[in-house]
Amino acid sequence: MRIAFGADHAGFELKDLLARYAAGLGHEVLDLGTSSAASVDYPDFGFAVGEVVASGRADRGVVVCGTGVGIAIAANRVRGVRAGVATDLFTARLMREHNDANVLGLGARVTAPPLAMALLEAFLTTPFAGGRHQKRVDKLDAPPPRPEGDPR
Ligand code: RB5
Repeated sequence: MRIAFGADHAGFELKDLLARYAAGLGHEVLDLGTSSAASVDYPDFGFAVGEVVASGRADRGVVVCGTGVGIAIAANRVRGVRAGVATDLFTARLMREHNDANVLGLGARVTAPPLAMALLEAFLTTPFAGGRHQKRVDKLDAPPPRPEGDPR
């Protein structure tokens, strides 16, 4: 699998470790930065990973900031991206099985490296279950028209 990695200054060390881990598992790694503790803005890196995944230049993305939240929000602004933040194995598996998540968000200030590696492994190896989940995932990119009388 080709995996794009991105992080801000809070997440770059964990991102680097996870990129090395993924390469060791035999994956192709595309590192989009950042690569130092110098302060940067997480949206720049979330957008970069999102665009690479949405365009098909990578199969999956991994984004890391302090909490994983800001950079995952940025990735999700790119149409076609389904990013979720995981802090536990159940969520890492279910975001694949139910949501067909293509970007994993992780928080370097929340999740210790051994758990982060396990979360990444679950994200990479768990298949999408399809079935009843497919039509729900389809609605993320093509919301159905509002029925007449809808109060929104
Ligand atoms: C940077 O200090 C921090 O705000 C960022 O890494 C992230 O946690 C935002 O969601």
